[in-house]
Amino acid sequence: MSKLKIAIQKSGRLSEKSIKLLEECGIKFPNGGGKLITEATNFPIEILFLRDDDIPQYVEQQVADLGIIGENVLVESKKKINLVEKLGFSSCRLSLAVPKETQYESLEFFRNKRIATSYPNILSEYFQKLQIEVTIEVISGSVEIAPGIGLADGICDIVSSGSTLLSNGLKEVEKVLDSQAVLVANHDLEDSKKQILEKLLFRIQSVRKAKE
Ligand code: PRP
Ligand code: ZN
Ligand code: MG
Repeated sequence: MSKLKIAIQKSGRLSEKSIKLLEECGIKFPNGGGKLITEATNFPIEILFLRDDDIPQYVEQQVADLGIIGENVLVESKKKINLVEKLGFSSCRLSLAVPKETQYESLEFFRNKRIATSYPNILSEYFQKLQIEVTIEVISGSVEIAPGIGLADGICDIVSSGSTLLSNGLKEVEKVLDSQAVLVANHDLEDSKKQILEKLLFRIQSVRKAKE
């Protein structure tokens, strides 16, 4: 029988909690040693450790059947994959922030300004709806330093505890999107894999109910 392949984040905000969820589902697997792929010993599943931003593409291309990612990454990717279940952990928001000394009154502030972000798709749709013209500077990481080095007037990035903004002299001014960890799946799973997914989903739901 073919195994189900699930991709989870290699290192970052979702990694530990994704591993913990699988373990709480009773799935046993060797973890550590920096291996990028591992097999469960008591459940027909393989676990791939990947960069979260790459997971939507891998799931779309069926390199992985399932993935655990932030909703923010799913929406930004525009990949045609299914959102199977919201997982209720790693909640955060995608927000606009500006240097803390900035006089900020409304979204009009951003008209004709430069905003640094790793989320150009979400951000350009957001400002298009508002009919506010902005310049988006796409940066793949450490977006929060952009205002300080003169690259942008503000940023749009994930805020969780808020400590990254604080330590970079920025303040949150608008929320663009709420996000949390979600389980995603390829469109076209073969029947045997669908059956494994059903079993996994049942366990995930039981784990979550037990915590309520
Ligand atoms: C986000 C964001 C900040 C951090 C904010 O990164 O880019 O670096 O989290 O969290 P805080 O408010 O608790 O300080 P993310 O975990 O999404 O990692 P990535 O950008 O490497 O994918
Ligand atoms: Zn990421
Ligand atoms: Mg980051």
